[in-house]
Amino acid sequence: MNFEMVMALSSALDARDKYTAGHSRRVMEYAAGIARNMGVSEKDIKRLKMSALLHDIGKIGVPDIILHKESRVSDKEFAVIKKHPEIGANILKAVRDFKDLVPVVYHHHERFDGLGYPHGIYGEQIPLHSRIIAVADSFDAMTSTRPYRKALNSEAALLEIEMSRGRQFDPTVSDIFLIRFSNILDDVLKNMEPEYVI
Ligand SMILES: [Fe+2]
Repeated sequence: MNFEMVMALSSALDARDKYTAGHSRRVMEYAAGIARNMGVSEKDIKRLKMSALLHDIGKIGVPDIILHKESRVSDKEFAVIKKHPEIGANILKAVRDFKDLVPVVYHHHERFDGLGYPHGIYGEQIPLHSRIIAVADSFDAMTSTRPYRKALNSEAALLEIEMSRGRQFDPTVSDIFLIRFSNILDDVLKNMEPEYVI
């Protein structure tokens, strides 16, 4: 499958909401940076990049009124949002070339301690690529302004990741991100226009 086509698809998804413009692309760059620093092979990094670009594709099935809500969502609305990994996995299942991406997208909201969703699996039961995307996704979400809160600076977001190390996030993945952050950010800045990066 053509990588540019996947990029276009993910930008179309991000463009639905001004708050998420460039989000999937940044998650892809941070995730690739983590993987490179973990010694993941280039072939697997390519697969990881596709999963990162498409991780939230299931949000296409979440109504605008919930997705674009300016205040905090209710429990009922959150239950709808929580369906997006499953919707995304079902969309990708239909494409043979995306077979490897399905479990990664399905599990991208699991937590290392087992308190995530949709399955509540924990530790290394969670696919490595999902554990990498979880750190990249949370860092980008925290450093982006959302309708209900202002962006954190990178120091504050890194501190949050450090505090959630071993609970929400894989400790090894977190450590790589924290220790190698300046190198990872340099690479992200090389690959993206600065106005789209924190
Ligand atoms: Fe997500």
